[in-house]
Amino acid sequence: MTVLDAGGQYCHLIARKVRDLGVYADVHASETPARELPGRKALIISGGPDSVYSPDSSTIDPDILKGGAAVLGICYGHQLMTWCLDGQVHKGEKGEYGPARLMVTDSSALFAGTSASQQVWMNHRDTVERVPAGFQVIGSTDTCAIAAMIHQTRPLAGVQFHPEVAHTEFGNQILSNFLFGIAGCTPDWDPKDRIGPLEDEIRRIAGSRNIFFFVSGGVDSTVAYTLCLRALGPERVYGTYVDTGLMREGETAYVERLFAQLGAKHFHIEDAGGEFLSALQTVCDPERKRQLIGEQFVAVQERVLRGGHFLDDPWILGQGTIYPDTIESGGTKKADVIKTHHNRVAGIQKLMETGRIVEPLHSFYKDEVREVGEELGIPGEFLHRHPFPGPGLGIRCLCAPAEGAVTATDDGYLLPVKSVGVQGDSRSYRGVLAVEDFASEEHVAALVNRRSDINRVVARVWSRVPTSQMRGTRGFLTPERLERLRHADAIVRRLSDENGFEQKVWQFPVVLIPLGTSNAPDSVVLRPIHSVDGMTAQVVRMERPLLDALVAELSAVPGLGGVFYDLTNKPPGTIEWE
Ligand code: XMP
Repeated sequence: MTVLDAGGQYCHLIARKVRDLGVYADVHASETPARELPGRKALIISGGPDSVYSPDSSTIDPDILKGGAAVLGICYGHQLMTWCLDGQVHKGEKGEYGPARLMVTDSSALFAGTSASQQVWMNHRDTVERVPAGFQVIGSTDTCAIAAMIHQTRPLAGVQFHPEVAHTEFGNQILSNFLFGIAGCTPDWDPKDRIGPLEDEIRRIAGSRNIFFFVSGGVDSTVAYTLCLRALGPERVYGTYVDTGLMREGETAYVERLFAQLGAKHFHIEDAGGEFLSALQTVCDPERKRQLIGEQFVAVQERVLRGGHFLDDPWILGQGTIYPDTIESGGTKKADVIKTHHNRVAGIQKLMETGRIVEPLHSFYKDEVREVGEELGIPGEFLHRHPFPGPGLGIRCLCAPAEGAVTATDDGYLLPVKSVGVQGDSRSYRGVLAVEDFASEEHVAALVNRRSDINRVVARVWSRVPTSQMRGTRGFLTPERLERLRHADAIVRRLSDENGFEQKVWQFPVVLIPLGTSNAPDSVVLRPIHSVDGMTAQVVRMERPLLDALVAELSAVPGLGGVFYDLTNKPPGTIEWE
């Protein structure tokens, strides 16, 4: 089946949910002509930010509604389907966002096995005002009369809410009803079954050539590498890991051990820490840091490729590209920053252009990559590690070119530290408000909404001097500060791992900010969050005994003057501080 991407951030989530139900799903642009989608049993038109009334809004080939495939429209897809079939869409003034109660008004195959009243998740402005000919309304909410509709004789249905998100109580059941009850799909997708065919494919592409990989120590490149290792044997697969010097404590040694355990024979570590640090010496602007780290990567990669003659025959390049990386629409990820730079390496581009590239995981989602990895015998502890950004501690170590003062306000202390956030779909770079206790989620949201000078609120957990006496310090990306962050990060990781907290959260960045006193110029920010895919995140609050244990050790780290706890969800904060 295919998800037609109308620009929503949810299209990959829909495809992933469908795959979880055992049906292979891919994602295509919504405008894809029906003739390019032959043999599909089911199509889902995703949500999107548009209004059918905007001149350049996403659209569909109307023929897809006339062919044999069953079609489900979700949110904007529901409106688009209505519009294409001459129903009526009402241009809304006020949106409906968040949970809503759906009343099922008529029985239908779509809601089979679900309750008459159920929670759904809404995120829309426009609504369907009149269903197209042949459709009946099957569900309503207080503010949305046509929240679900189905055609009386043909396999077409639409829902205003999002069945793919976890907040929709019967979301999986509704998707499953559509796939199996309406479209007649059969569950036959299991990523683990793909291992044999993938190995055949690798052997076919490689022929008699060898494969060279840059591995990052991340899940994707490790699983892709291991597949190639299995397909071609250790003599024919080479890997290089670039040590940027921006890694966490023990990371390089860990990766080295892991690859030895996986059976790698030709595994090389390129120590480039000195080069990265000298390029970043005086840089404070986070975007500039990212750019320089990317450029440095490119330079090191070029050197390795040329030095090892990996650009020449008999070499091809292996990459851990996964499905969302191959799709341009549907939201851009900052996570791609490093990857974009990788792909820009002239040598790599040349290999791509001449077809000398193998990307065995290009049709898989992250969870599926983990399943494949498990089947290949890669340790679960590695496969389920928290995500860690390519630029590493380089972005988590905030820098400042000059000193600054803490300002007392009615709401708390405004810290002289700026960090990146995401507000209303765009990036912000604003100040941080420190409060003295763990303010409620609502209070934090109200503070960020009210104050235009901040995008985050932190709680002060411990500091050598009262917050009012702390100062913004001058600090760059020096070996000393990096080591301070690495040390603090290692303490936090060890204690939260022993406590079981590390396993409860999705990610737990530890950040160094230039704020403290002359003897202890930096502070640490703890940022444990829960997330599904990094697009949004909720703060996770830890139990007091763990926090006390962390403070006890962190307060003994030389140079650390304070410990703060980030109370900001994403949005308006980002997961990383940079
Ligand atoms: P933000 O900070 O944008 O992060 O909320 C969302 C997720 O993306 C990760 N991240 C990166 N991953 N390279 C990566 O591979 C990067 O440059 C990068 N920047 C952010 C971040 O850790 C979080 O999981």
